[in-house]
Amino acid sequence: MDSVRALTEDRIRIELRAARRSTTPDADWGSFEARFDAEFPRLQSLFHRIYGAAADDELLQVVLDAATSWQERPADLKALDASRAMAPEWYSSNRMLGGVCYVDLYAGNFAGLRERIPSFRELGLTYLHLMPLFLAPSENSDGGYAVSSYRHVDPALGTMDELADLARELRENGIALVVDFIFNHTSNEHEWARRAIAGDPDYEGFYWIYPDRDMPDAYEQTVREIFPDDHPGSFVQLEDGRWIWATFHSFQWDLNYRNPRVFRAMAGEMLYLANQGVDIVRMDAVAFIWKQLGTTCESLPEAHLLLQAFNAVCRLAAPSLLFKSEAIVHPDEVVQYIDRNECQLSYNPLQMALIWNSLATRDASLLAQALERRHEIPEGTAWVNYVRSHDDIGWTFSDEDAAELGIDGSDHRRFLNAFFVNRFPGSFARGVPFQDNPRTGDCRISGTTASLAGLEAGDGAAVARILLAHSIILSTGGIPLLYLGDEVGQLNDYSYLSDPAKAGDSRWVGRPAYPADRYADRRDPATDAGKVFAGLTHLIDVRKRTPEFAGGRLIPFHTNNPHVLGYQRPGLLDGEDSTVVALANVADTPQHVSAETLSGLPTTALELIGGQQTLLAAGITLEPHGVRWYRL
Ligand code: GLC
Ligand code: GLC
Repeated sequence: MDSVRALTEDRIRIELRAARRSTTPDADWGSFEARFDAEFPRLQSLFHRIYGAAADDELLQVVLDAATSWQERPADLKALDASRAMAPEWYSSNRMLGGVCYVDLYAGNFAGLRERIPSFRELGLTYLHLMPLFLAPSENSDGGYAVSSYRHVDPALGTMDELADLARELRENGIALVVDFIFNHTSNEHEWARRAIAGDPDYEGFYWIYPDRDMPDAYEQTVREIFPDDHPGSFVQLEDGRWIWATFHSFQWDLNYRNPRVFRAMAGEMLYLANQGVDIVRMDAVAFIWKQLGTTCESLPEAHLLLQAFNAVCRLAAPSLLFKSEAIVHPDEVVQYIDRNECQLSYNPLQMALIWNSLATRDASLLAQALERRHEIPEGTAWVNYVRSHDDIGWTFSDEDAAELGIDGSDHRRFLNAFFVNRFPGSFARGVPFQDNPRTGDCRISGTTASLAGLEAGDGAAVARILLAHSIILSTGGIPLLYLGDEVGQLNDYSYLSDPAKAGDSRWVGRPAYPADRYADRRDPATDAGKVFAGLTHLIDVRKRTPEFAGGRLIPFHTNNPHVLGYQRPGLLDGEDSTVVALANVADTPQHVSAETLSGLPTTALELIGGQQTLLAAGITLEPHGVRWYRL
């Protein structure tokens, strides 16, 4: 084994020397070699575990591609790599604030987006996720998640050069650019896909294509249906009668990572994007990338090895690039993707779902339990906490956790679905069902934060609920991510129903166009937009001045009142230990936290949101949906 490795490494070194360009300065090449020395053993061992030693030729090509990509990496990005290497956990700062939007819906195109940079700064963004912006089929493209080329942006938005310029301009304004890396599948119009169905043997092996139903039937015994409204099962039939794997829409064809050439090809696309100035790639649909007959084909061990291998490749050629995992699955599975050597960042779908659960039930117990046992993640990693995304909300809590609190998971999901689509008496929410599957009982819901929180229904507590929900993502640790437009309380947009390409996908209800009227009102405290904006920007401001909110450490704080969520954020203030205790009342009625409960705390503390020194010794009463951040 050792002699095989030594031999290969030797050969790679010779080939690498040949790949060095005469124009590459010694220091640049030296830094690549140093990273090669540090990372190659890991990459090779991952490659062997996935593909076996027979794939060493492909591995060699991957490394050579990385060397080329590094040599092509613009100097300003290399400087960024160097500065981030000195501050590797830059993303753990309490000054981090994320925003996400669609370029077309929010700003028309890249030029329009540049004009919005001043307002991003005003809001305090340091992270901007631009929804998929690549070339995609013109009709339905799953909101851009069906990519036809990673090297071309959607011409309606601009050009790749403009994207690189935008990345630079954002960086100059202190904003990191996040784009999707949709590596589980391509669109059916991708060059690889076209060649595959045309019978090009080099590309047929990029996808999962079968002549008849035998294998599809066998796989479908155990895989879950993701978009049953689009097609049942995981396969769709091609015009020539063959069947192809399509987990999501019929036009999104899953790539076959059992073929090492697929890994190499996608690694190349990833490095290309990195060299455009992308800071963070959102690793789309990570759970699905490896398939194994007889399993659910989700979150298999090889999925992790593949992500780690991509991670190792980017350490070689784009060392400051970070991965954000999109695993909207059971919490036990979500955490498996979070690791310095895999994905440094991850969506926190459990916290998201349980924020909504707390608002519906007026009970914070499940969320408190999740913060207690499922919040801690490894050093050097961070949650991306969010109230809602462009996708549906699924109730991905653990049934075992719920059972401990006397809650039956499936009954409770049924309740939550009914509540959030306003089929439960007294509901304040105006969500829309998504992928309602009567056969399996599975259903998720769609909607904007404001509509789900009661603003559309005219519920008087809606603004307070919106602020409470955001207070949690701003203070629990990690990067808070705003769905842009939610900060002015944008409502559901039902116009998707009259667009045939969108009508079948209710997630569009939560993806409104830039709400110009609401932004115009944002300074007017008499308007809902103004109330949400003022409240939220104040919380953001306080967060930025609260260094205890950096990093992710969280200690539970038991409030002895199921309506009041509590947690402590220990940290440093001016070099001294300091802790902030957060309390949030999820009920529609005032709630008390007793003197006895608070007896371990100092008798008074500075409440950071109101800026007042407050007596704690007598207990505290929180108004409905009231939030407090006490510095002890
Ligand atoms: C991710 C995206 C979702 C998309 C799916 C398929 O889950 O968030 O919008 O439909 O991947 O790419
Ligand atoms: C996408 C879908 C969501 C699904 C998830 C699985 O996010 O929108 O419904 O559960 O993918 O990763």
